[in-house]
Amino acid sequence: MEIRTFDYEPHGDNRGQLVALEEQKDFPFAVKRVYYIYDTLSDVVRGHHAHKCLKQVLICVHGSCMIHLDNGHETCEVALDKPTKGLYIENDMWREMYDFSPDAVLLVLASELYDETDYIRDYDEFLKFIKAKESEA
Ligand code: TYD
Repeated sequence: MEIRTFDYEPHGDNRGQLVALEEQKDFPFAVKRVYYIYDTLSDVVRGHHAHKCLKQVLICVHGSCMIHLDNGHETCEVALDKPTKGLYIENDMWREMYDFSPDAVLLVLASELYDETDYIRDYDEFLKFIKAKESEA
């Protein structure tokens, strides 16, 4: 399963670190929405959904968390444990976020505004959606 991650170069000097991200150069879409997740307990699993169209980049800008990805055929686990690592998640990908450290802040850059109709929140429905798309292709 091919996973696209980004290794962002910080502008570090004796004052600290700064990471700047520009659309198309540092992630492959224009950002319409930004949100961040924090104060998530370590035994909580978030996500449990896929998107029909939305593309996202996840960056754990503080602390760490794990991301479970599932394309309907294969799964993988990605550790987000530094503020310079971005994980690109395309549409048609089931995701779960777990193992949040107490100090974790997960920043999400999203290609579309919030749209509940873009969500697939049922795993069996996700598998059916993927199969239907593949049989159309
Ligand atoms: P939810 O989809 O449950 O988060 P997660 O994917 O991390 O499990 O979202 C939590 C709440 O926030 C839910 O009521 C929807 C709302 N929300 C927005 O209003 N705008 C957004 O951009 C997002 C991502 C969520």
